[in-house]
Amino acid sequence: MKIDYAEISVPESGTLIVGILADGELTPSAKDIDERMSGALAKAVAASARFSGKKNSILALIAPAGLALNRVLLIGLGKAAEIDALQMQALGGRAVSALNKAGESEAALILDSLEGCPLSLEQMVAEAGFGARLAAYRFDKYRTKQKEEDKPTLESLTLMSDRSEAAEAAAAPRQRVGEGVYLTRDLVSEPSNVKYPATIVEDIEALSDIGIDVELLHEDRMRELGMGALLGVGQGSRRESYIAIMRWNGAENQDEQPVAFVGKGVTFDTGGISIKPSNGMEEMKYDMAGAGAVIGLMKALAGRKARANVVGVVGLVENMPDGNAQRPGDVVTTMSGQTIEVINTDAEGRLVLSDVLWYTNKTFKPKFMVDLATLTGAIIVSLGTYQAGLFCNDDELAERLLAAGKASGEELWRLPLGSRYDKDINSEIADMKNVGKGREAGSVTAAKLLQRFVEETPWAHLDIAGMAWMKRGDEAVVPKGASGFGVRLLDKLVADYYES
Ligand code: BES
Ligand code: MN
Ligand code: ZN
Repeated sequence: MKIDYAEISVPESGTLIVGILADGELTPSAKDIDERMSGALAKAVAASARFSGKKNSILALIAPAGLALNRVLLIGLGKAAEIDALQMQALGGRAVSALNKAGESEAALILDSLEGCPLSLEQMVAEAGFGARLAAYRFDKYRTKQKEEDKPTLESLTLMSDRSEAAEAAAAPRQRVGEGVYLTRDLVSEPSNVKYPATIVEDIEALSDIGIDVELLHEDRMRELGMGALLGVGQGSRRESYIAIMRWNGAENQDEQPVAFVGKGVTFDTGGISIKPSNGMEEMKYDMAGAGAVIGLMKALAGRKARANVVGVVGLVENMPDGNAQRPGDVVTTMSGQTIEVINTDAEGRLVLSDVLWYTNKTFKPKFMVDLATLTGAIIVSLGTYQAGLFCNDDELAERLLAAGKASGEELWRLPLGSRYDKDINSEIADMKNVGKGREAGSVTAAKLLQRFVEETPWAHLDIAGMAWMKRGDEAVVPKGASGFGVRLLDKLVADYYES
C-alpha cells in the first residue's frame, strides 16, 4: 500500500474519508463535502442512531449523488480535546481495515486542524499514516493460491490536509518506524527452515546499507570468550550459532556511552532433550521475537536517524534434540565464570541471554540494557496477550519504560525481583540452576537468573512471550500473527529520554 500526502481536493474516484466530531459535529472538511452533496452527509449522520462521531466509529455511505466517488466513509474523532497519537493511529488502522473489507483500491483521508486538539495537524496526519501502515501489514508470500477476494485490495491512501508539506515531513520518521516494525514481523513470521541463525545474520548485515555497523561473533570466537551457556543451547543443532552486534551512533558525540538492547533469538525451540509436546510446537518458530524486535528497532532508529548511540545485540541459536545435544543435569560455564546446572534444556532462553547480557555489559558499558525475550510460558498465564512483563533493577528506567509503553500502545506491567526469589535458583552442584521451584513464579525466577549477569548496570527484562504473536489480531494496528512488539515501545523510549 502506497501512502501519499496532498492538499485537500475532492477525488474523482475511490473512497473519501472524513472525520466527524463527538455529537455528530461535522469537521470543516466534512462540512465542505456536505455542501457538495447538498446536505446528504449531515442528514446521514442525523439519521443514524448508532453513529454519532464517537471515536473510532465508522459509517460507510455509498455512491453519493453529485460526486464521482465510490463512497464516503465517515470516521468518528470523538472530542477534539481528547485526541492523541494512539487514537490517530487507530483511526488510520481502522480506515485501512474497513477499506480492504469493502474491496476498495484507492482512498483519501481528509484531516483538519481542530480547535482544542492537543495534536498539530501534521502530527495528526503523521500518526494516522503510521497506523495505516501498521494495519496494512500482510505476510502472504507463501500463499500461491489465495483467492482474489481474500487478498487486500487497498493500493493507495492519500492523506489530505491544508499543510501537506509539513505533514509529509512529520510523517517520514513515523514511516521509518513502521518499516522497522515490518522487518520484525517478517523475521518472526518466517518459518524456521528459512530463517535460522545464518540467514537472520544475512538480514542483519544488510542493515549496513542504512548506516548500521554490524559485527558478528562466530562459534570459535564465542568459545574463546567462554560462552558455554549459549554454545550449550546450540550444541544439538546442525545450524551454527551467532551473536550479531548492531551499532548506530547518531548522537552528537559519537563517543557518548550507548544504550543497549539485547534480544533472545532462539530460531526454533523444540525444548531440546526436555522436548516439548508436539501440540503447538510449531509456534516456537517465534521464539526469536526478542531478537526480531531488536533488529527491527535498529532499522527504525537508523531509518529515522535517531540522535542517540545505540547498540543492539542478539543471540541466535536453535534448540534441538540430537546425539550431541546438551543433557539435563549438564553443568555449563558462562562467560562470566559463573556455572549453571541445566535442569531443563527447555529453559534455554535464559542460558543464551546470560552470555549475551554479560558480553554486552562488559564490552559496551552501556547506560542501561533492556532485553526482550519470549522467555516463559508463565508470563502468558500471568498477563495474557495485552501487556508484557517488565522486570527492572532501576526505578527510573522502569518508570520510563512504563510511560513509553502507555504512549506507544505497547504496554508493560512491572513484576518483582525480590531477593527471596533468588535463592530458588541455587543449585546443589553449581552456582545456579536454570529452573526455579516447579511452577511457582516461573517468570520471576527466569528474570532472577538474568539478573545475575548484569551486576549494577541499570537493566530491564521484557518477557514478551504473550505479546510476540497475536492469534486473534483484535487491535486496530496489529493484524493477526507476528506483532512486532517492542519496536514502537523502545523507539518511544529512545525518542523521549535518550536523544541529544
Ligand atoms: N520459548 C519458551 C517460552 C514460551 C512459551 C514462549 C510459549 C512463547 C510461548 C521457553 O524457552 C520455555 O520453554 N520456557 C519454559 C521454561 C520452563 C522449562 C522452566 C516454559 O515456560 O515452560
Ligand atoms: Mn524453551
Ligand atoms: Zn524458548
